[in-house]
Amino acid sequence: MKTVLITGCSSGFGLEIARYFLGRDWQVVATMRTPRADVLPPSERLRVLALDVTNPQSIREAVETAGPIDVLVNNAGFGAASPVEFAPITTVRELFETNTIGTIAMTQAALPQFRQRRAGVVVNVTSSLTLKPMPLNAAYRASKAAVNAFTESLALELEPFGVRVRLVLPGVSPETRFRDNAHARMGGLDHEAYADLVKKTFARLLDTSAPITHLRDVAEAVWRAATDPSSPMRIPAGADAEAWAAEAA
Ligand SMILES: NC(=O)c1ccc[n+]([C@@H]2O[C@H](COP(=O)([O-])OP(=O)(O)OC[C@H]3O[C@@H](n4cnc5c(N)ncnc54)[C@H](OP(=O)(O)O)[C@@H]3O)[C@@H](O)[C@H]2O)c1
Repeated sequence: MKTVLITGCSSGFGLEIARYFLGRDWQVVATMRTPRADVLPPSERLRVLALDVTNPQSIREAVETAGPIDVLVNNAGFGAASPVEFAPITTVRELFETNTIGTIAMTQAALPQFRQRRAGVVVNVTSSLTLKPMPLNAAYRASKAAVNAFTESLALELEPFGVRVRLVLPGVSPETRFRDNAHARMGGLDHEAYADLVKKTFARLLDTSAPITHLRDVAEAVWRAATDPSSPMRIPAGADAEAWAAEAA
C-alpha cells in the first residue's frame, strides 16, 4: 500500500487531496499546523501530524514520524493582494518563507529516502497565475514562479535516481479559504492611485460567470501527477487554468 504525505490539509485543496487518496486505498499522512483529525473521514490508513513548513524542527519531526513515504505533496501556501508599493515587506518575506522555502525545505527532507530507494514523487502545487501576469499579486506570483523554476531543475537532477517531480497549477478557486486568508493580508488596495486597477482586477477575479477551479480538479491533477509517469511536468487544474495554459502555450 502506498503512502502520501500532504502539507496544508486543514482546509481547501490539501483537505480534498487527502480525502481523494484515502478514497483510493492509500495511506495518508495529512499534515496541518494545528492538527485536527475530525476534518477527515475516520480511517486506519489516516495519520494526522503537526507540520509548519516554515519551521525546520517541525519539518524534521513530521518527516521522521511519518516514516517511509512514496509521494510528497507540497500544497501548503497562502496569497496576499497588494500594489507592490504598499506590500509590507514582512508579508513578502512570509510569502516566500511558506510558498517557496517551505516547499524547498520539505523536498530536501524527503529526498534522502527517495534517492536511496530510487523511487518517489514530489508534487508541487503552484498556481496558474504564474502562466500569465496579473497585477496586485506580484509577490505571491513570484513566490510560486520560483517553485516552478525550482521544480523543473529538480526534475533533471532526480531523473537518474528514478524520482519524479511534477507541478500542479490550479486556477482561481472560491471553494477554499485562500481568498479569505489573502484578504486578511491585503495592503494598500484602498489607495486612490490604484482604485481603478483594483476595481478592474477584482471584477475579473470575482466574475461568477467565468470558469473556476473546483476542489476535485486539483485532487485529480495531483493524483495524476502522483500515479501517472507519463503525465506532463506542468498539469493545469481547473477549467480556467486549462484555458490559461492553452493561451500561454
Ligand atoms: N484557491 C485558489 O484560488 C488557489 C489558486 C492557485 C493556487 N492555490 C494554492 O493552493 C494551495 C492550497 O491553497 P487553498 O486554496 O486550498 O487555500 P486554504 O484553504 O487557505 O489552504 C491553505 C493551507 O495551507 C496551510 N498553511 C499555510 N501556511 C502554512 C505553513 N506555514 N505550514 C503549513 N501549512 C500552512 C493552511 O493551514 P492553516 O489552516 O494552519 O492556515 C491551509 O491548510 C496554496 O499553495 C495556494 O497558493 C490556490
